[in-house]
Amino acid sequence: MSTSERRASVRTGVVWDAVVARLEPNARVVDIGGGTGGFAVRLAREGHAVTVVDPSPDALAALARRADEAGVAGLVTGVQGDLTDIGTHVAPGSADVVLCHGVLEVVPDPAAALRTITGVLREGGLLSLLVAQRHAAVVARAMAGHFAQARALLDGSDPVGKVGRRFTHDEVGTLLEQAGFTTRSVHGIRVFADLVPGSLLDLEPGSTQALVELEQAVASRPEYLPLATQVHVLAQR
Ligand SMILES: C[S@@+](CC[C@H](N)C(=O)[O-])C[C@H]1O[C@@H](n2cnc3c(N)ncnc32)[C@H](O)[C@@H]1O
Repeated sequence: MSTSERRASVRTGVVWDAVVARLEPNARVVDIGGGTGGFAVRLAREGHAVTVVDPSPDALAALARRADEAGVAGLVTGVQGDLTDIGTHVAPGSADVVLCHGVLEVVPDPAAALRTITGVLREGGLLSLLVAQRHAAVVARAMAGHFAQARALLDGSDPVGKVGRRFTHDEVGTLLEQAGFTTRSVHGIRVFADLVPGSLLDLEPGSTQALVELEQAVASRPEYLPLATQVHVLAQR
């Protein structure tokens, strides 16, 4: 396994397990900002029909190649589009599950975007939401010696940067509630993964698997949530 594959397994392990545990067979999944299809193609291999909506033509081309190579092209549809106008690409109430991983950070109005997602989900359908978490970024900035940036992040007055907006767990909960969702589970993602030097994973046999297991063990412990780089919420319409 390459270094990037090892990193990917640590990053996606907890989210993947939480999502697949709740999927009904042959689910209709919409992956908003699904990019090159890392998640979508895996889901298609499990028999689910996945529509990836992403504004990037390059990402969609890579998605098509990946789906083809995996022999699941018939279950994966790529659509060039945007979270803000998702209703024009996906029929109302047609999705069993919507994935919105790493996208809410970059839309101009997160509350409006969540309301739009509500519209494409069927009654009782599930939203898997993964967003950047603010508290961990404060710690990371401070540890790197960027104290003024850490201070700006602390009270949420930081400029919207490369990764976009960051959220606290409470902010995500409020946004979801206002959009009509009921939270079913909350997980802290990458509690330790971004603090561990990559060389350690390369050199120590078995360390990646041990880190994946540690991430799984802390993911649902609220006391570790503020340290997580991302928050993952499963919420029901
Ligand atoms: C940080 S990547 C996340 C990719 C993937 N969802 C994941 O979790 O690994 C963000 C993705 O969202 C797409 N994206 C950016 N702005 C978007 C928008 N307004 N609506 C939908 N997708 C968007 C990008 O093209 C990119 O593929």
